[in-house]
Amino acid sequence: MTTLALAVLGRGLVDPAEPLLRADDLALLRGQAAFETTRVYAGKPFRLDDHLARLSISAARMDLPKPDQEAFHELVLGAIELKRIEDASLRLVWTPGSSEGGGSVGFALFGAIPPGHEPLRARGMKVITLPIGVPYELRAKAPWILGGVKSTSYAANMAAIAEAERHGADDAIFLAENEIVLEGPKTNVWWRSGQTLFTPSLETGILAGITREVVLEAAPALGYEIAEGIYKRSQLAAAEEAFTSSSVRELMPVIQLDGAPLGDGRPGPAAAALQQALRRAAAEG
Ligand SMILES: Cc1ncc(COP(=O)(O)O)c(C=O)c1O
Repeated sequence: MTTLALAVLGRGLVDPAEPLLRADDLALLRGQAAFETTRVYAGKPFRLDDHLARLSISAARMDLPKPDQEAFHELVLGAIELKRIEDASLRLVWTPGSSEGGGSVGFALFGAIPPGHEPLRARGMKVITLPIGVPYELRAKAPWILGGVKSTSYAANMAAIAEAERHGADDAIFLAENEIVLEGPKTNVWWRSGQTLFTPSLETGILAGITREVVLEAAPALGYEIAEGIYKRSQLAAAEEAFTSSSVRELMPVIQLDGAPLGDGRPGPAAAALQQALRRAAAEG
């Protein structure tokens, strides 16, 4: 990621090359920080307050101090104005500080949008499924598993993407026990049969994606019904099209699942229509 700017709570804009965290910050020692990623469109951070609310939920789930949402909001808007940021990815991070107490750090890191997204959207993604071996019910019911929490302990998610790439794929989809579809390492998952869009329900312990929420809002006006539920891999594999949703990569078509074409093996119409709807929502602010 090309860094565009770094702003720190209580300090404002800081040189991104400057050291920021103490060596005993539990973010570093234990991977216990909460984070968010959103996108800045034409100088406006998309659904910033929804992301800040989710940051607070993640922090609470990890027993972190509560982040000051208002201060974060001001920090982000101030940095966008001062650095004249137009289009960017925006990562918000909230650390617990030292185990001896104090020293929480909150920062906003702006990065350039990777150039590979649009070619990938035109081509469509190859995806593999990866089992995680737990019943889907456990993820929602066992708070210590941190299902649905955006913590900086994403090493396993990144390892899943690396595994997909070793198989010549672009991304992965996690499966709970009995091949129940969950989510991608950094995305929510969707597929279409006829005019119905299927997506795993939140009771599977997946992240309540902000882009997922946009899709839920936009789909009816585009003529799609939504079916949230507990679904097996075989239902995804038999779909007419599939796609993922996430803040920076937006709506990304899936054209291949575990080496077999998904639908007709080309990006589908629902993904394209919803991508446009997301951009309209971003333009409206
Ligand atoms: C595990 C996981 N699921 C889903 C998503 C998509 O969420 P959002 O649309 O809020 O970016 C993310 C985003 O990073 C994620 O990490």
